[in-house]
Amino acid sequence: MRIIKAKDYLDMSRKAANIISAQIIMKPDCVLGLATGSSVIGIYEKLSKWYVKGDLDFSKITSVNLDEYKGISKENKQSYYYFMNEKLFSKVNMNPNQTFLPDGMESDSDKVCKAYDKIIEKCQGIDLQLLGLGHNGHIGFNEPNEVFEAVTHCVDLTDSTINANKRFFNNIDEVPKQAYTMGIKTIMQANEIVVVVSGADKAVILQQAFFGPITPKVQASILQLHKNVIVVADEAALSLI
Ligand code: GLP
Repeated sequence: MRIIKAKDYLDMSRKAANIISAQIIMKPDCVLGLATGSSVIGIYEKLSKWYVKGDLDFSKITSVNLDEYKGISKENKQSYYYFMNEKLFSKVNMNPNQTFLPDGMESDSDKVCKAYDKIIEKCQGIDLQLLGLGHNGHIGFNEPNEVFEAVTHCVDLTDSTINANKRFFNNIDEVPKQAYTMGIKTIMQANEIVVVVSGADKAVILQQAFFGPITPKVQASILQLHKNVIVVADEAALSLI
């Protein structure tokens, strides 16, 4: 595991975006595993800017996102589909037929998860997986658990996640209680993983995830076993290291 120390959120975003752009330049038809959340917004801003400048070409890229809320439509501003479209897909020349997220509107969980795993399988491996880190150590929506769940599955969101995400909704009742998420095996099979962590409120979980015991209670701790993980974190998030 490599840790890259950034000064602040902007610096973290620039450093992580540089790693992703290096991947795109080296392999223009790469498969990117993408994430949502505040931690990655700055990265998408940088990548969009570099595309406009003519430095990056997304036309041959395939993307598979980590997760999507269950029961939320693509048009809903809180859906991860909407987020990705607003922050990245509409700003760069990605082929809309090559960007994938689990179908939040399909209520048959088994069907969604199987279909999503088929899509991932067809991609023949994720070259670079981008991750944020939840306050409870979740990656994607793999919540603290007794086990590491391997493949795409439907999760009941924990109270802490529902609380953390309520800031994006009008009130807590509107926050979905379930989501579809890529599994840990799929994430761990990515060739390279970039985790971005920012802010003093993530300092404790960063320490537990990357320097504590490997346990499904802190799902991100499994990343310690991956051969090619880069943690890009700002000084505030690294304050306990
Ligand atoms: C969300 C997402 C995760 C994300 C995490 C951290 O619930 N499902 O993929 O990494 O929480 O979000 P943030 O970056 O906003 O702190």
